[in-house]
Amino acid sequence: MERENNDFLVRMVNIHKWFGRVYALRGVDFEVRRGETVGLIGDNGAGKSTLIKILSGYHHADQGEIYFEGQRVSIRSPRDARGLGIETVYQEQALAPNLSISRNIFMGREPLRRLGLIDKKVMDEESMQALANLGLKLRSPDVPVVTLSGGERQGVAIARALHFKAKLVILDEPTVALSVKEVEEVLEFIRQLQREKVSVIFITHNLYHAFDIAERFVVMARGKKMADVKKEDTSPQGLSDLVLKSAFVAE
Ligand SMILES: Nc1ncnc2c1ncn2[C@@H]1O[C@H](COP(=O)(O)OP(=O)(O)OP(=O)(O)O)[C@@H](O)[C@H]1O
Ligand SMILES: [Mg+2]
Repeated sequence: MERENNDFLVRMVNIHKWFGRVYALRGVDFEVRRGETVGLIGDNGAGKSTLIKILSGYHHADQGEIYFEGQRVSIRSPRDARGLGIETVYQEQALAPNLSISRNIFMGREPLRRLGLIDKKVMDEESMQALANLGLKLRSPDVPVVTLSGGERQGVAIARALHFKAKLVILDEPTVALSVKEVEEVLEFIRQLQREKVSVIFITHNLYHAFDIAERFVVMARGKKMADVKKEDTSPQGLSDLVLKSAFVAE
């Protein structure tokens, strides 16, 4: 295995991705340090989701390399990504709406008793504890996720990431379609990840949310990385200008 410098939790190098004739990623370099939160921003169709889906194993790059904890890795499936400690939180897909909260937290990683039966008691207790650690008090581990609010659902997905000691949590537009109060809850969940030194990639069109939560911002347009700025060198308005200018330059 190739080895390299260990400051980075993850490093994507020269990533290219085609969807048929659509050249979605055109040689993107992207990295996240240990414990760092990166805001990934850019206009519609810039390639943000495609880039992170390559990390979470939903897509494969046509060219390029991924290093995780200094090791060259091949992420062929969401299971591979989870095995490395990469958890992805999508507004919709991450949870199975008709399954209970505890089934969702353990999905595919259920504790077993002898004879291979699922240990529901352990699962329920640990689920409620994981949610409580996030400051989320839900009635029962048995209620289906479909009955929860958008903010609570994000909480369940983030509780799962924390419970299984994820090293990197990717959030693709987690605050879309949430009320102001729910957005604040979700941002608070992300702060909990930060306190636990989990690295975070946060994709959003809301540059105020991005500015609030991230330490560094990567701006994409038309499949390319156009800018990489630290929080201390910019502002929400500065980010907005960068996104607009990048979209224009990339035309
Ligand atoms: N599964 C797919 N099949 C074909 N084309 C795709 C697919 N996924 C993405 N694309 C195309 O790749 C490009 C990048 O899309 P992507 O979803 O990564 O953008 P994005 O930056 O996440 O945009 P948004 O902010 O709207 O979510 C777009 O042109 C999109 O139409
Ligand atoms: Mg997207």
